[in-house]
Amino acid sequence: MKIDILLGLQWGDEGKGKIVDALSPDYDIIARFQGGPNAGHSLEFNNIKHILHLIPSGIFHPGKINIIGNGVVLDPAVFRQEIDNLGIPLEELTKRLVISSRANLILPTHRMLDAAYEQKKGHLKIGSTLKGIGPTYTDKTSRNGLRAGDIMLKDFRQMYEGLSSGHLELLRQLEYESDISKYEKDWFAGIDLLKKFRVENTEYLINDMLSAGRKVLAEGAQGTMLDLDFGSYPYVTSSNTISAGACTGLGVSPKTIDEIFGIFKAYCTRVGSGPFPTELNDETGELLRKKGSEFGATTGRPRRCGWLDLPALRYAIMINGVTRLFMMKSDILSGFSTIKVCSSYRVNGQDVDQRPYDNNAAIEPVYTELPGWQEDITGIRKYNELPLNLRNYVEFIEKQTGIPITIVSVGPDRNSTIFR
Ligand code: GDP
Ligand code: IMO
Ligand code: MG
Repeated sequence: MKIDILLGLQWGDEGKGKIVDALSPDYDIIARFQGGPNAGHSLEFNNIKHILHLIPSGIFHPGKINIIGNGVVLDPAVFRQEIDNLGIPLEELTKRLVISSRANLILPTHRMLDAAYEQKKGHLKIGSTLKGIGPTYTDKTSRNGLRAGDIMLKDFRQMYEGLSSGHLELLRQLEYESDISKYEKDWFAGIDLLKKFRVENTEYLINDMLSAGRKVLAEGAQGTMLDLDFGSYPYVTSSNTISAGACTGLGVSPKTIDEIFGIFKAYCTRVGSGPFPTELNDETGELLRKKGSEFGATTGRPRRCGWLDLPALRYAIMINGVTRLFMMKSDILSGFSTIKVCSSYRVNGQDVDQRPYDNNAAIEPVYTELPGWQEDITGIRKYNELPLNLRNYVEFIEKQTGIPITIVSVGPDRNSTIFR
């Protein structure tokens, strides 16, 4: 058996949580491979909305194993809060959730460093979620980090103090003042909770399950345009959000990968700074934000909104090797008389399909206009019953990308999903 990967093709918040939850019945393991509490994955069933940050989106399905992979950075305080909010008994959760001993830990001081660095950047702020992601991955690559497996070591407390005191010195140099004691209490309570879970080398678990013919769904966080290497650096996150990240973030061979599901919104959004060629700073952008409730699931910040960007989508498909596309939030486009799609970029007077390297390059989107549809589609469950103009929109994107769109999502609930 093989691994399927589901990941975002835009700037995050494409609807990954909803689809992972909807697809979970088809899998034995659901595994997060990168990112951390910067993610906010929403899913909805029985009229209740859940937002997950660290915990994989298969957690609500009994009998499934959810793995927090080695590529994830884990904040024990956030972990504890999330476990408390799930409404699932702890005894059951300890059966459903396994944590990689190699996942690096976010310390309270990592969060402070994140805030201190952003403060120093002034108008060049990345717009980080301030969850400590960048500083934690920095310590990982500089080989100073603490990992989940370390919590069982006799000298864990000393290891913690060593790393934390170095950070505090740095924070002093950065003239950043904050009281660590209130964060530390929650953090150590989170460590105590972690000890109740299986913390192990999950690469064995995943590979053993694959050998036994089980199916794995790898759940990405963020999106391709926020990838550390291929996003609009430095306005990116600090991990590889692309399909290759699933191999390093879970400990599996590229040979085990089967399908790569690329998920995108029928339009575009971005939170935080950085280039966004199709951004609409007008009433249409405002309308998309209002209709789509485009406010961050982690920070509550308003998301920047714009039309679909095909050069960026084609780029993401290329980098990831996407085999199927899933189009989300199609219902939000109901009611527009015309829908625009950016089919190429005009840079220095020339039409190009490639993203310029320079974040400051003046990019003028070249739009193709398609007729919209007015019907409320949230109750529709069959592709053929969708308005003709929406089907034309779907088929236009398929033609422009060369990849089939096999899911059209028409609402936040797990059942508001049309499979083709
Ligand atoms: P993720 O980070 O990729 O999991 O996405 P988020 O949860 O941050 O943001 C997606 C938002 O859109 C959430 O509020 C979802 O409940 C919602 N959502 C997902 N799919 C659909 C859809 O097809 N239609 C509508 N209206 N909302 C959706
Ligand atoms: P999900 O998994 C949208 C953005 C932040 C910021 C940049 C760096 O819900 O799609 P970081 O905290 O990682 O240092 O922030 O990345 N960002 C996200 N945007 N969805 C996310 O996750 C994001 N995680 C980080 O807004 O611009
Ligand atoms: Mg999100």
